[in-house]
Amino acid sequence: MLETKRLILRKWTEADAESLFQYASNTEIGPVAGWPPHKSVEESKEVIKNVFNGAECYAICEKENNAAIGAVELKLNGHTDMTERDDECELGYWLGQPFWGKGYMPEAAGELLRHGFEDLGMTAIWCGYYDGNQKSKRVQEKLGFMFHHICREAPVPLLGEVRVEYINVMTKEHWEGV
Ligand SMILES: CC(C)(COP(=O)(O)OP(=O)(O)OC[C@H]1O[C@@H](n2cnc3c(N)ncnc32)[C@H](O)[C@@H]1OP(=O)(O)O)[C@@H](O)C(=O)NCCC(=O)NCCS
Repeated sequence: MLETKRLILRKWTEADAESLFQYASNTEIGPVAGWPPHKSVEESKEVIKNVFNGAECYAICEKENNAAIGAVELKLNGHTDMTERDDECELGYWLGQPFWGKGYMPEAAGELLRHGFEDLGMTAIWCGYYDGNQKSKRVQEKLGFMFHHICREAPVPLLGEVRVEYINVMTKEHWEGV
């Protein structure tokens, strides 16, 4: 479990399926991030079992209650196409729409960067956003990510699309100076 000023980051459990469905069924969330909106609580349960099972995948909860309102993850080598190194990983995230605009994601992802560099020994953490996703771009700017390259034909397999993706990076040295 990880903790920030306002948030708890904890493991997902199947008991979170209803809460996950409530937010992940919103068409404003998944498609911009590359996945289809959830269609049923059953589907959300399957996602918890088969997708949110990574070693560094966390449910985001406000401290006042234990409800899962979003996800933040460090996708380790073997679970990301951004690196083939064990000391590098990819940051991914989304947040339920009612909670947007409070700076929750910079807070949660900032803690995951600390965790990655200090606890897991990462030397670089990658993060991308699809062209037009200004909200995610802003989160990465606030965290201090550096532009690395543009992928002009990034496959989005869950949606059967190809998009333009901006790829950013945070090195440990840069993070120590941010
Ligand atoms: C990207 C996301 C995680 C941002 O989380 P957040 O906690 O709201 O982040 P912030 O509060 O720092 O807001 C980031 C930007 O979002 C925009 N924003 C905030 N609240 C908003 C709202 N209610 N409606 C529209 N845009 C909003 C603002 O541009 C803001 O930047 P600013 O603070 O400079 O004004 C969230 O919008 C989200 O889950 N989006 C859909 C999924 C997604 O894009 N995931 C990332 C895939 S790469």
